[in-house]
Amino acid sequence: MASPRRAYLPLLALCLVLHLHHAAAQQADERQLLLEIKRAWGDPAELASWSAATGSPCAGWAHVSCDGAGRVTSLALPNVTVSGPVPDAIGRLASLATLDLSNTSVSGGFPAFLYNCTGLTHLDLSMNRFSGDLPADIGRLGENLTYLALNGNGFTGQVPPALSKLKNLTVLALGTNQLTGTIPPELGELIGLQTLKLELNPFVPGKLPESFKNLTRLATVWLAGCNLTGEFPSYLPEMSELVWLDLSTNAFTGNIPPSIWNLTKLQNNGGLTGTLPETLFWNMTRLYIMNNKFRGSLPSSAAKLQKFNAGNNSFSGEIPAGLAAGMPLLQEFILSSNQLSGAIPPSIASLGGLTQMNFSNNQLTGEIPAGLGSMPVLTLLDLSSNQLSGSIPRALGSLRLNQLNLSSNNLAGEVPEALAVPAYDRSFLGNRALCTGAASSGNLAGVSSCAARSSDKVSPGLRTGLVAAAAALLVVIAALAFFIVRDTKRRKGLAPPEEAWKLTPFQPLDFGEGPVLRGLADENLIGKGGSGRVYRVECPSRSGASGGTVVAVKRIWTGGKVERKLEREFESEVEVLGHVRHTNIVKLLCCLSRAETKLLVYEYMGNGSLDKWLHGHRWPAPAGSSMPARAPSVRRAPLNWAARVRVAVGAARGLSYMHHECSPPVVHRDVKCSNILLDAELNAKVADFGLARMLVEAAGTTPTDTMSAVAGTFGYMAPECAYTRKANEKVDVYSFGVVLLELATGREAGNGGEHCSLAEWAWRHLQSGKSIADAADECIGDARQSDDFEVVFKLGIICTGAQPSTRPTMKDVLQILLRCEQAHRKTVDEKTAVSEYDAAPLLPAVRGGSRRKQLSDAADGKGSFDDVV
Ligand SMILES: *[C@@H]1O[C@H](CO)[C@@H](O)[C@H](O)[C@H]1NC(C)=O
Ligand SMILES: *[C@@H]1O[C@H](CO)[C@@H](O)[C@H](O)[C@H]1NC(C)=O
Ligand SMILES: *[C@@H]1O[C@H](CO)[C@@H](O)[C@H](O)[C@H]1NC(C)=O
Ligand SMILES: *[C@@H]1O[C@H](CO)[C@@H](O)[C@H](O)[C@H]1NC(C)=O
Ligand SMILES: *[C@@H]1O[C@H](CO)[C@@H](O)[C@H](O)[C@H]1NC(C)=O
Ligand SMILES: *[C@@H]1O[C@H](CO)[C@@H](O)[C@H](O)[C@H]1NC(C)=O
Ligand SMILES: *[C@@H]1O[C@H](CO)[C@@H](O)[C@H](O)[C@H]1NC(C)=O
Ligand SMILES: *[C@@H]1O[C@H](CO)[C@@H](O)[C@H](O)[C@H]1NC(C)=O
Ligand SMILES: *[C@@H]1O[C@H](CO)[C@@H](O)[C@H](O)[C@H]1NC(C)=O
Ligand SMILES: *[C@@H]1O[C@H](CO)[C@@H](O)[C@H](O)[C@H]1NC(C)=O
Ligand SMILES: *[C@@H]1O[C@H](CO)[C@@H](O)[C@H](O)[C@H]1NC(C)=O
Repeated sequence: MASPRRAYLPLLALCLVLHLHHAAAQQADERQLLLEIKRAWGDPAELASWSAATGSPCAGWAHVSCDGAGRVTSLALPNVTVSGPVPDAIGRLASLATLDLSNTSVSGGFPAFLYNCTGLTHLDLSMNRFSGDLPADIGRLGENLTYLALNGNGFTGQVPPALSKLKNLTVLALGTNQLTGTIPPELGELIGLQTLKLELNPFVPGKLPESFKNLTRLATVWLAGCNLTGEFPSYLPEMSELVWLDLSTNAFTGNIPPSIWNLTKLQNNGGLTGTLPETLFWNMTRLYIMNNKFRGSLPSSAAKLQKFNAGNNSFSGEIPAGLAAGMPLLQEFILSSNQLSGAIPPSIASLGGLTQMNFSNNQLTGEIPAGLGSMPVLTLLDLSSNQLSGSIPRALGSLRLNQLNLSSNNLAGEVPEALAVPAYDRSFLGNRALCTGAASSGNLAGVSSCAARSSDKVSPGLRTGLVAAAAALLVVIAALAFFIVRDTKRRKGLAPPEEAWKLTPFQPLDFGEGPVLRGLADENLIGKGGSGRVYRVECPSRSGASGGTVVAVKRIWTGGKVERKLEREFESEVEVLGHVRHTNIVKLLCCLSRAETKLLVYEYMGNGSLDKWLHGHRWPAPAGSSMPARAPSVRRAPLNWAARVRVAVGAARGLSYMHHECSPPVVHRDVKCSNILLDAELNAKVADFGLARMLVEAAGTTPTDTMSAVAGTFGYMAPECAYTRKANEKVDVYSFGVVLLELATGREAGNGGEHCSLAEWAWRHLQSGKSIADAADECIGDARQSDDFEVVFKLGIICTGAQPSTRPTMKDVLQILLRCEQAHRKTVDEKTAVSEYDAAPLLPAVRGGSRRKQLSDAADGKGSFDDVV
């Protein structure tokens, strides 16, 4: 009984030896193959580690991975530039499972020899220079294949029906090629598909095959620009996994099945055609359907909708009067280039969160509702190319618009003085009956003066006078942007006071009012804001001691129609700041007041605002060539990471103090980089509590009218500001989160690309699984790899959560930043990576679903931060 076993053992040993021998031979063979591949690609520097001298390809050859037996299973060199066609030696790598040559500049025809790699599961040849037809027998790539990306090449011919043989495909991407013919119905057999991208191919007109109804697992569908015709596919609403649907730029007809709006996961749809149901059931917050052929009337109800872009469609009828009530949360409302008629319903003015309103290029008639002038956060108003008539309501002058276009209408009468400014010089073209008043003529292109209209001639003297008056007005209505202008021309200072100034000191002063008043000259101007100008004034010491005090004087005009509002702003600023003592809050030294002018005298911050340090290079250089040497320069060296963390800590200290140490708490409401000032040692101090208000939450107290006073700043404004007056400290936390993201990424708050804020951009970046270091500001160098960078970035994202309840308090934020600062110091000291502080390991929990839930307004009171801490 023992002999068979004894005979078996040597046999086994032999087999093992043979097998090992075989494996070793194969390994040597594959090494040769890789070297051959490298040669074929012209020895690119990226592949320097592939060398005949170094042993196994599995040990340290870049872009190569192997299995346990030392066989090459993966060759992945995305973004590495090699040249020439795909070497056929690749077809002899018998165990190859992954081949990723995306964006490598390879060329030639489809590499059919890959059929020999039967274990291939992932093939990515996207974004290269391939050409020629896709082979009809492409199905021979085999059933092991799950991922096939050929997009972004020059492939021609038809989409091969044989693709349907790749039964296990989950991703098929053929977009952006030169494929012709129609989409083969056989693709409907690929029932495991989750991603299907055929966009931007010159297909002949055709229908989406009926067989696609079996593709029920699809989550991403890109069929934009595929020349699709026929009825809108009725089965789409049954694809319950759909997240991303882009059918834009096709020629679908018929109605959209109303049930499409019930797809709960759908986040973005690039374009659908047909009509929209009157009520959008779906909990969606955005609907982008621009550049389609939607027709019928607009829906009037979508309770959660915030962004609605229906531009360039065929909607007709009137804008429903009940729309404002039905979509109370709208922030962005684009209806341009449709066939809408009738009047603009005055109820639109009740959309308190609307920032962008573009109704251009329709057939709207009637007058512009005067109520629009009271919309608190509107920054873009485009009503151009309609048939609006009547005069322009004066009230529009109180909006703080970045963009205004009322061109090509039938508007008549005088342009309100507040709008007749150079910033809007091309906003009124093509309204023949419009004219400008005496003070503002010459400012507006295509609009003549009302006086000229009645008496055709204007004396040169009068014209000069008008121009001078216009220039004066220009100065008064300062732009919203904050920038430093230094004027070299000396001009006369403030006229000597006729009425006495009332001085209210908040601490002992070593200077009198005289030097302050004399200092208010143009050459000392260092900033302009929405409500006033800021001067840098040197006050010689009254006691005769050497050296004086340098102060910043904020001058607020009163008088005119906005007097009361400014008065309130002034009083609140004085009230709050006069009594605050904190190293991270800009100190208010005294104030001077007189009927028509208020002066706030602050300690001077030698290093200007954080804004200039982070984004200074984008600023216009100061006017004039010979600027005063003592004036701070606009261009600055970038802050390093340690300095940025310190700034964050300082600002967080200041805010935390205002929120948690003051009673009642003080909410800043306009936290942003330009309100964080840096002293000579780069310590951060929070400035401009101009909009600060005592937060009175106790029952029974009447809420103050803050909404109209708060214009907010795009990118920094917490979403709840759009629909509630009961904003609390969490609006500051949101804005501060944006500041953190600016510190980390160097990007500007409002600039996340494509209508998107930085907060949103950062969140998407994290969601997409991209490396956080990729988001870093280039200026911070290696610090981007550090744990504390990651913590700050993630903290910024948590602070900008959509739900106020999920945002941390400033106290929590400060604690985490302090730990970051310590950890960073430690890292630098020990030159080792330390990640002992506990926030870091906890923070990664943000990735994943929690933030998405918040965004989709899931009513989960407990947010990411509670889970994290
Ligand atoms: C390739 O480069 C692009 C653009 O720089 C980048 O977005 C992408 O992540 C890179 N891909 C890989 C796999 O590194
Ligand atoms: C392709 O790779 C290059 C680097 O080789 C990179 O600069 C470029 O952004 C990449 N393009 C895409 C579309 O990924
Ligand atoms: C693929 O395999 C077949 C037979 O197995 C062989 O004849 C052919 O040469 C191989 N092609 C390549 C490119 O290795
Ligand atoms: C799938 O791959 C394995 C090796 O990984 C291979 O043995 C098998 O034949 C392949 N199946 C098909 C259908 O090609
Ligand atoms: C294809 O997928 C099915 C189930 O997902 C699996 O059972 C089968 O083995 C796969 N086929 C290949 C060749 O991998
Ligand atoms: C759609 O098909 C028509 C007719 O073949 C063709 O002229 C047109 O260029 C195609 N459109 C696109 C976007 O490919
Ligand atoms: C969908 O798949 C089933 C079998 O799974 C098949 O009988 C049916 O014909 C397919 N439908 C279409 C429209 O291709
Ligand atoms: C969509 O869902 C809502 C509620 O979930 C339901 O009342 C409505 O009938 C659905 N609409 C369609 C067209 O399926
Ligand atoms: C409007 O949409 C159509 C597709 O429906 C597109 O072809 C056209 O370019 C779009 N126009 C503009 C100005 O974007
Ligand atoms: C409003 O929409 C039209 C058409 O899409 C566009 O041309 C215009 O630039 C938009 N207006 C503003 C101010 O962005
Ligand atoms: C909308 O969202 C709420 C909670 O976020 C959920 O309870 C409700 O079912 C959703 N409604 C629809 C129609 O999906």
